[in-house]
Amino acid sequence: MTKKTIMKIAGTGHYLPEKIMTNQDFEKIMDTTDEWIQQRVGIKERRVVGDADQSTSDLATFAAKAAIEDAGINPEDIDAIIIATVTPDMAFPSTAIFVQKNIGAVNAAVFDISAACTGWIYGMTIAEGFIATGKFKNILVIGAEFLTSLADMTDRSTAVLFGDGAGAVVVQPADGESGIMGSYIKSNGELAELLWSYGGGSRVNKRVTDQEKMVDANGNDKRSKIRMEGNKVYKYAVRAMIESAEKAMDDAGINEHQIDVLIPHQANMRIIDAIAERLEMPDDRVIRNLQYLGNSSAATIPIAIDQSRKSGKIKKGDIVLVAAFGGGFTWGGLVIKF
Ligand code: UT7
Repeated sequence: MTKKTIMKIAGTGHYLPEKIMTNQDFEKIMDTTDEWIQQRVGIKERRVVGDADQSTSDLATFAAKAAIEDAGINPEDIDAIIIATVTPDMAFPSTAIFVQKNIGAVNAAVFDISAACTGWIYGMTIAEGFIATGKFKNILVIGAEFLTSLADMTDRSTAVLFGDGAGAVVVQPADGESGIMGSYIKSNGELAELLWSYGGGSRVNKRVTDQEKMVDANGNDKRSKIRMEGNKVYKYAVRAMIESAEKAMDDAGINEHQIDVLIPHQANMRIIDAIAERLEMPDDRVIRNLQYLGNSSAATIPIAIDQSRKSGKIKKGDIVLVAAFGGGFTWGGLVIKF
């Protein structure tokens, strides 16, 4: 272990909504095909909230309970809850507030962060700071998204990409055996208009005229929907993922040959292939759940970590590299010893 390892993952959990939406379901409602989606993106189906009476905090609550149980602690032991999400329950208060109430984490300071698909990695980096100062000992870091609530069902180039879900970890001071060995986070605001949603933000709320322009001739309100320049995002995504991986490994003082498992952000199979090839990672050591879950932004990596731990793909002592990119642009990576 490197000397600077100060925080470990003590428990993990995830939650997926029950409803499955397949590519064939999309064929029935828009001009798309299963073949196009599988070839260009790699998704077969995704989990969606659909008609269930759930919001982001409900998904996060299930994941949080599972992670707390896995860590063998009680909700009262939690000192902080950090939720990374771009689909909060409401503008304020935070989504984390509702999770605090739901799980009974009465001693916690709680808040949300917004760093899109890189959000969970940002959250882990913030938590590491809290642990380093000795301020907190048990922190829940959650990535939770109800991304289909932002999907524009009239836009085939984005609607088919997204899924819903939540992943959570409990982090604690490192024990000398496992922990975060290296990290890297970065942003570039010049790329803000490649991937965004106006949502209920102040920029839109104050401009009544612009709001009217965002409702199309069919009355479809695009204000809160995801907009994306897919091609440009793709180009930057590959570069950002590789930079994240390399910088996180540099920070940890290791190289790609020492990585046991790679967990890339699950947005497009071709992006995952590109980073896996660059890092010379054999296929059986690259985690992919995109085909079944779609892209659930900040939730993708903590969901994949929990699934991989529990299925035995990540074993005790393994060194895992995670890398993500997303709206902002934001990007980043972590090297984690389990
Ligand atoms: O986590 C956040 C980040 N987001 C991403 O990572 C997304 C990154 N970008 C991508 O994954 C890809 O750019 C997409 C999957 C979004 C699009 O793939 P692409 O290969 O870049 O396709 P394109 O946008 O260049 O579109 C190619 C064609 C177009 O038709 P024409 O103009 O060539 O006739 C599109 O209209 O594919 C068409 N198309 C579709 N056809 C069938 C776009 N979406 C669909 C669709 N079904 N769902």
